[in-house]
Amino acid sequence: MQILKTVQEVRQFRATCSGNVGFVPTMGALHAGHAQLLKSSVSQNDHTIVSIFVNPTQFLAGEDLDRYPRTPEADIKICELCGVDAIFMPDANEIYSQIEPKILAPKELSSTLEGATRPGHFDGVCTVLTKFFNIINPTNAYFGKKDAQQLLIVQHMVKSLFMPINIVPVDIVRSSDGLALSSRNSYLNDDELAQALKLSRSLMKASNLIKANKLNSLEIKDAMSSCLEPLKVDYIAIVDKSLKPIDSIELGNTIILIAVYVSNTRLIDNLWV
Ligand code: PAF
Repeated sequence: MQILKTVQEVRQFRATCSGNVGFVPTMGALHAGHAQLLKSSVSQNDHTIVSIFVNPTQFLAGEDLDRYPRTPEADIKICELCGVDAIFMPDANEIYSQIEPKILAPKELSSTLEGATRPGHFDGVCTVLTKFFNIINPTNAYFGKKDAQQLLIVQHMVKSLFMPINIVPVDIVRSSDGLALSSRNSYLNDDELAQALKLSRSLMKASNLIKANKLNSLEIKDAMSSCLEPLKVDYIAIVDKSLKPIDSIELGNTIILIAVYVSNTRLIDNLWV
């Protein structure tokens, strides 16, 4: 497995690849959820390139850019075990200069939910991914469904900018007690980890109501709110795949999303119905 630091090194490596190239963009602190993305790419492509880059432009002032977990040695081991061919680990200076164009995420998809509390976040995501897509030129790029809004925005960007890349969604990976895996879970102590289980339990409650043919969005949201008490809820949203709120569940076209604070840590989770 090669570790590449510069754009030139990646381009040289890419030139040696024949067949399909899978790309898994990450910010490091890899866990079993990322491993699932890596394994999907390795099994579906001739070569897999992973990026590990804590992208400054997607963090707002006052967010956790400086304390975001960084575990490069462990990340390299996970990539090696999963059969990755190359890791791109650039410095910020390699990716950004003083004067920068910005790719703006469409406001229809980026101003709600995560974008409402994190304005500009998805512009940073679209900007860095456009750079990585241009550097790596992947056949397939892998994104977790846990970041549902990010996935929908990236799918939209690739389509509307005519980027010849297939975006592959990968299912959420959960711990045995239901918690969706996230690098930010490392901020939680034992008590907070127990509290965090309320997120997946509230989604399980929604799933059970839907199975019982209770499809009214308000009723489902009320039941979820009760499950989440006493945590501070940022949002519970029931939307279609264009992120528009819907009054009633449409099977195959609904996502239920939540953002909740467990102490100071903001966690997200979702259910694709
Ligand atoms: O989901 C993430 O980890 C990041 O938003 C991504 C896609 C690697 C872009 O920095």
